[in-house]
Amino acid sequence: MENQTTGSSTTLQKGAIILRSLQEADAPDLARHVNNKKIWDNVRDYLPFPYTEKDADEFIALVKGQDPVLTFGITYAQKICGVIGLEVQQDVYKKSAGFGYWVSEEYWGKGIASTALELITHYGLYQLGYIRLFTSVFEYNLASMRVLEKNGYIKEGIFKKAIFKNNQIWDEHRYAIVRED
Ligand SMILES: CC(C)(COP(=O)(O)OP(=O)(O)OC[C@H]1O[C@@H](n2cnc3c(N)ncnc32)[C@H](O)[C@@H]1OP(=O)(O)O)[C@@H](O)C(=O)NCCC(=O)NCCS
Repeated sequence: MENQTTGSSTTLQKGAIILRSLQEADAPDLARHVNNKKIWDNVRDYLPFPYTEKDADEFIALVKGQDPVLTFGITYAQKICGVIGLEVQQDVYKKSAGFGYWVSEEYWGKGIASTALELITHYGLYQLGYIRLFTSVFEYNLASMRVLEKNGYIKEGIFKKAIFKNNQIWDEHRYAIVRED
């Protein structure tokens, strides 16, 4: 694992997988990859669907210049194939960060999400100093649960019927990892 920070630019790397800041030029690839109902079915409704290049432009503008960097493009062999990002919390939750991620269907099953999560977990806990990282998974998303469990995340509970997605009610599985030192 390698981390590099220069100014407000941070890259996190393990093998062929590099997490780096998004750039304007990523918009067409980003839009093409994320414009997929199989991705949208597993994320919150604020992610537009269909997802246009304009949506990608706006998203990249929103997260550009973050210091510290919280939102990363996931690249595999130099090509953008997903996004992973931390979400800062407020008030008494300020030592916790939520997070979310997606990987393009073209790249599923290569261990990319698992490695991206490993990198951002280490970054969030040991570089940014969060004590707790957490996320929510819809009950049918077994691949994401596997990615979390492989990275040491614990299923802390199931929030029954918490999710309304695609006009149906689903349980929400809450996962977290805490720094023990
Ligand atoms: C979930 C997602 C991020 C996984 O990305 P990925 O790069 O394919 O993940 P990885 O290859 O690192 O690992 C996937 C793991 O899930 C397993 N898996 C895949 N489909 C599965 C299924 N239906 N049931 C159980 N396990 C499954 C794989 O075998 C693999 O585990 P393994 O390494 O032990 O074999 C990707 O499918 C995605 O973006 N989905 C849509 C968006 C999403 O779900 N985001 C997360 C919201 S919580």
